[in-house]
Amino acid sequence: MWPIVTLALALPLAAARTPEEIAQNARWLVHQTTWGYLTTLDAHTKVPVGDTLSFSDGALDHSTGRFFFYVMGDYTAAAPQGLPCAFTLSQASLMHNATLDPEDPRCAKLTASGILRKSEGEDVQLGKEALFARHPQMKHWPASHHFAVHELQLSEVWMIDMYGGGENISLDVFWAAQPRHTTPWAASSRSSVLQPGSKPPPWSQLADRARWLVAHSVWAALGTSSVRRPGMAWGNVRSVADGVGTNSTGLPMLYVPTPDPSSADLAADARAVLTMSEAGLPAPGSGSCGETEDPICARITLSGRLRVLNATELLDAEERMKVKHPLAPWLATGGAHTGGQYFTIELENITFLDFYGGPSNLTVAQYLAAAAPQETCSRNRPMRRFGTGMGHSILKLIQERMSHIARKQCIPCIALCIALYRQTYLSKMPL
Ligand SMILES: *[C@@H]1O[C@H](CO)[C@@H](O)[C@H](O)[C@H]1NC(C)=O
Ligand SMILES: *[C@@H]1O[C@H](CO)[C@@H](O)[C@H](O)[C@H]1NC(C)=O
Ligand SMILES: *[C@@H]1O[C@H](CO)[C@@H](O)[C@H](O)[C@H]1NC(C)=O
Ligand SMILES: *[C@@H]1O[C@H](CO)[C@@H](O)[C@H](O)[C@H]1NC(C)=O
Ligand SMILES: *[C@@H]1O[C@H](CO)[C@@H](O)[C@H](O)[C@H]1NC(C)=O
Ligand SMILES: *[C@@H]1O[C@H](CO)[C@@H](O)[C@H](O)[C@H]1NC(C)=O
Repeated sequence: MWPIVTLALALPLAAARTPEEIAQNARWLVHQTTWGYLTTLDAHTKVPVGDTLSFSDGALDHSTGRFFFYVMGDYTAAAPQGLPCAFTLSQASLMHNATLDPEDPRCAKLTASGILRKSEGEDVQLGKEALFARHPQMKHWPASHHFAVHELQLSEVWMIDMYGGGENISLDVFWAAQPRHTTPWAASSRSSVLQPGSKPPPWSQLADRARWLVAHSVWAALGTSSVRRPGMAWGNVRSVADGVGTNSTGLPMLYVPTPDPSSADLAADARAVLTMSEAGLPAPGSGSCGETEDPICARITLSGRLRVLNATELLDAEERMKVKHPLAPWLATGGAHTGGQYFTIELENITFLDFYGGPSNLTVAQYLAAAAPQETCSRNRPMRRFGTGMGHSILKLIQERMSHIARKQCIPCIALCIALYRQTYLSKMPL
């Protein structure tokens, strides 16, 4: 349960907020965040499909409220009229100290629904300016991959940033608003308690790396087929826990409150996807996720059916939540006052992208058979791939990846590595 006192303080506040203030907070979140989770439905099977994408609504001093993406030219090829999708953002992706659990209603979460289309005319230039200002690495992405500006043309903006449930924000008010953080809660939302101390397993150990990512993820986007918006996907931020320490299972458990749109979706069709990015870890690697959409920033989708836990599993879920979500104590004590259910995933398919050259061919069986990641549990030491000597370690990292690239016969990527190296090295090297 959320503390009654906080709730009592928050309710009058919630009542006092105008639609403009709510829209301002939505614009603030859209402007501050740089990446999110995209959910679509497979054109044939209608199974929810997840992805992790960077975006920009404009340079830091120029917010537009428009969602620009830089994806390969054929990204929407399966949907010539545009790809219906839901794009889910969380305040938990902002890198600050923790005060709120990702599932806490006060940790803002926003889902923008609409159609993703390739931009045309002057929107291409506008989109590039917005994207390159916030994602400088995109300028160096290889032309051979035909990256193109796309825009999510909005039909709905939905947000929870306070107690009292989700808000459908009128698009006119959304666009008219200026970005402004209008909730009283700190702009920070990362779990300070769980800083992954363990280093990711080596590149060659694919299944171990996937398990490492899932074990250390505290939140995911839950993608479902929308009941409210038939034929469309829906995505929502959920806190997850795949186990405690060496009891990590690779199969996240999560809680879905009854009033949540995801709850109705799951009741109608249990097929779902959980999408997680290394960029969303409580203490992301200092190197791999300088740019979230770069394939070296690992991402995974777990798809299958969500199943309600039985009584035995429920005890396990509450134990996991207690350890992994200390800032959301209600998750360990039966859930929110609104009622809801605990779920886990019956895993059918997995997509793990960890490097250039497209998703790996990791199978569900290999993933489940991998050992639970070692928990080294160092509280304040952020996970680092670079070690301490930044310049030296970047060289090592490049060497390591070069050999991996050679193995994968992906020679064109070397140019990208060099660009990445120059950018990272020149901008971050302490002189
Ligand atoms: C996070 O907390 C630490 C210790 O409390 C503090 O030194 C640091 O400045 C904080 N960082 C941010 C971004 O607030
Ligand atoms: C949300 O608002 C949009 C327009 O801004 C509208 O088309 C849509 O139907 C609304 N959804 C709900 C659930 O009210
Ligand atoms: C793993 O599960 C076993 C059996 O339930 C338990 O005894 C052990 O303490 C657990 N380990 C951790 C790290 O929680
Ligand atoms: C898993 O993949 C198979 C084969 O591609 C597909 O038929 C099935 O619908 C997928 N299931 C889910 C839940 O994604
Ligand atoms: C709960 O589900 C687990 C996993 O499917 C199973 O092993 C266990 O026997 C079930 N327990 C009960 C009480 O049904
Ligand atoms: C895909 O998996 C097979 C069998 O596990 C393996 O032999 C093959 O090398 C893998 N391919 C790539 C590109 O990793």
